[in-house]
Amino acid sequence: MTNEEITQNYGEIIEKTVGFVKDKLKEAEGGHDWYHIQRVWNNALHIADIEGTGNRLVIELAALLHDIADAKFHNGDESIGPKLAGDHMKSLALPEVIMDKVIFIIENISFRKHHQNNTANSVELQIVQDADRLDALGAIGIARAFNYGGFKNRPLYEPQELKETAMPSLITSSNHTIGHFYEKLLLLKGLMNTPTGKQMAEERHSYMVTFLNEFYKEWEGKK
Ligand code: ADP
Ligand code: NI
Repeated sequence: MTNEEITQNYGEIIEKTVGFVKDKLKEAEGGHDWYHIQRVWNNALHIADIEGTGNRLVIELAALLHDIADAKFHNGDESIGPKLAGDHMKSLALPEVIMDKVIFIIENISFRKHHQNNTANSVELQIVQDADRLDALGAIGIARAFNYGGFKNRPLYEPQELKETAMPSLITSSNHTIGHFYEKLLLLKGLMNTPTGKQMAEERHSYMVTFLNEFYKEWEGKK
C-alpha cells in the first residue's frame, strides 16, 4: 500500500483493526478487555493531538493492537501478541515501515521494560505507553487493580506485610492488591514520557493517594 492508498483507505484500516481486536478480546478479563483498548486509543489520540507529533496511523494501530495477547494470560509467552498483530497488518497489506514501528511498540510498551530506555527513538511508543499507563491510574486504575486481584483470587490487603516493611515502596512482590499500588501504580507518574501525559497523570495520581488514605482509615475503623 502506498501513502496515498493509506490515506484513501484510512477509515477501513482502522475499522478492520477494531473488529479484529474486539474478536481477540471476547473472553478477556475486565481490566484488559475491549473497553481498556478503547480508553487507551482515546488517550493516545488526545496526547498526540496536544503534543502535535508522531505518525497517527502508527499510534492508532499500536494502541488498538497492544494487548491482543498479553503474556500474563499466555503462560508468559511474549511472542504471540506481536505475531498476531503482524499477521493482521500483513492481511491489510500495510507498508513494512508502518508494521515494524507498530510491532516495536507492542514489544516495548510494558512496564516491566521501563529500565531499558527503549522509548528514546520512538515518539509513537512514548505516546502509546503514556496512554496505556494513564489507564492504570486514577479511578479506572483502582477498579482495574481490584478486578485483576479478584481474577487472581488475591486478598485486598495484608496489613502485616506493610507493617513489617519500614518502607512500603520497597516491597517488591506482594500478594495483595494494595501492595500493587506501591510496586507499580504510584511509580507511574514519575515514568511518564510526554508533557501531556505527565500532566494527565498528576490528577489521577492524587486521586489514588486520597483513595489509599481513605482505605487505611476505614480499615482501621476510624470515624
Ligand atoms: P502493562 O499494560 O503495563 O503490561 P499490566 O498488563 O501489568 O500493565 O497491567 C494491566 C492492569 O492490570 C493494570 O491496571 C494493573 O494495575 C493491573 N495489574 C497488573 N498486575 C496486578 C497485580 N499484581 N495486582 C493488581 N492489579 C494488577
Ligand atoms: Ni494495556
